[in-house]
Amino acid sequence: MSRTLFVTTALPYANGSFHIGHIMEYIQADIWVRSMRMSGHTVYFICADDAHGAPIMLKAEKEGLSPDKLVKLYTRERKKYLNGFQIEFDHWHSTNSAENRQLCCDTYYLLKKNGFIETRSIEQFYDPINGMFLADRYIKGECPKCHGKDQFGDSCELCGAIYSPDELIQPYSDLSGTKPIKRFSEHVFFKLSDPNCIKFLKNWVAGKNSSGNFHLQTEVQAKTYEWLGIGKNKSSLKDWDISRDYPYYGIEIPDQPGKYFYVWLDATIGYLSSLKAYCTLKKIDFESLIAPNSNTEQIHFIGKDIIYFHTLFLPAILKFSGRKTPDTLNVHGFITINGEKMSKSRGIGICPMQYLKIGMNPDWIRYYFASKLNHRIEDIDFNFQEFTSRVNGDLIGKYINIASRTSNFITKCFNGVLDYEEETQKILLDDIKHRTNSVRLLIENRNYRYAVREIMNYADHINQNIDTAKPWVLNKATENLKNERNQLQHACSNALAGFKALTVMLCPILPKLTTCIAKNFLKLILILNGKMQVSCLKIYCHSSILWNELIQK
Ligand code: 2FM
Ligand code: ZN
Repeated sequence: MSRTLFVTTALPYANGSFHIGHIMEYIQADIWVRSMRMSGHTVYFICADDAHGAPIMLKAEKEGLSPDKLVKLYTRERKKYLNGFQIEFDHWHSTNSAENRQLCCDTYYLLKKNGFIETRSIEQFYDPINGMFLADRYIKGECPKCHGKDQFGDSCELCGAIYSPDELIQPYSDLSGTKPIKRFSEHVFFKLSDPNCIKFLKNWVAGKNSSGNFHLQTEVQAKTYEWLGIGKNKSSLKDWDISRDYPYYGIEIPDQPGKYFYVWLDATIGYLSSLKAYCTLKKIDFESLIAPNSNTEQIHFIGKDIIYFHTLFLPAILKFSGRKTPDTLNVHGFITINGEKMSKSRGIGICPMQYLKIGMNPDWIRYYFASKLNHRIEDIDFNFQEFTSRVNGDLIGKYINIASRTSNFITKCFNGVLDYEEETQKILLDDIKHRTNSVRLLIENRNYRYAVREIMNYADHINQNIDTAKPWVLNKATENLKNERNQLQHACSNALAGFKALTVMLCPILPKLTTCIAKNFLKLILILNGKMQVSCLKIYCHSSILWNELIQK
């Protein structure tokens, strides 16, 4: 059955260039999207710049630019990266857009109408030197849980505790270094602690989507249960403060002049408004996609650092503004480089733009990531030596080698005609069908690592068959030895049928290489009237390629 999928990656902050972590997430999602399209599903693959918030405002100030200008600088360069790594979003939008302003205001009024908004005065840290209330990230101090020094006001990087800045020991302003003072201000809250909300969240967290899979990976579910206080008598969830005081770069709350939506509220809604902008362009009925009874599946790829926002706020906000809730959250881990944590100051990392500039092939890194990723939240180590040996050993040594060991014989000795033994053809096609289906399912379940392993096992198998058949020996037989000639033609045809199947299996992972092979395959092998027309490959490797079509041939 054909499915409709609304797929997003996390919206990157527009105050910096993409780093390798962004690229990995986009590649992970892009592989999945390409594969789902090959299964005949309709996918809306959407992302946007997360353009608001205090960090962007402060960075712009420091650089003597308006926040708008700063955001534009980064937005402008996005395409270069995305094209460079063959990441094909259907639409890239911005949270600083008319659609987002409108949808945030609509959502706010809907939440208010449904009784989930409350206003109360709270005492907050204020930096008297900078003349502003301090966002959680700009207050630092000692973690109340593990007593680690210099931790942020909202969470501890050392022990992962989540708290309010009030709980920090010996707080200080990270902007001026001074001790902040306390000031009262009126704030707007989303009632996350409302019993109806807790009840909904408990169900959602335990729930499954229409494919019969849990909304959340086991580890994510367990973490969210902890936040929900499952196992304890009471939920520990606090209401969510969704407003920030002037000066703030964001969307002004319609009935609260001088107050702005907290960036995470407008970013969360940003998923929907970006889809809306795309729908307007393509004349698709947006409302029907996000209605509570919609069949469209909503799937978010994110990193493990932003689980909290996606398992609590996102579903709750959507639910209580009368919309459909997310179906699947795909959380991945972080990247380490040669075993070390990424660090700009220590020069540990991979600069994606540099990777492209020096002419490295995007498919190599896509393949390497695929060979490491699975459906869990495990961190991934990018090891330079392993990267090189994967590319050389697997892609060149195993996959491409099949074509280079066999295609010449077909071209030179048989005028490009492929031929198969009657009795082996069915076995060959059944085998291809079985393997392709297995790879398709592994990719669908985001077990790319195992998909790659199966693909390479198949490449090994084909290479072993070539070793056994010894086409270079058969080729030495004179033209009169019909038996040997037939054997040569059959062995090479079988290998090339396998190569074609491998090419299709690799399509979602290696779009550049497989498209190139598809375009050039006819030059490699001149087909006259072979039984399996290799020219089919040309169709398969374009975006319209379907897993099923391969299986049927
Ligand atoms: O952590 C981040 O990079 C955020 N900009 C992600 C936002 S995702 C979403 F909710 F929009
Ligand atoms: Zn801590």
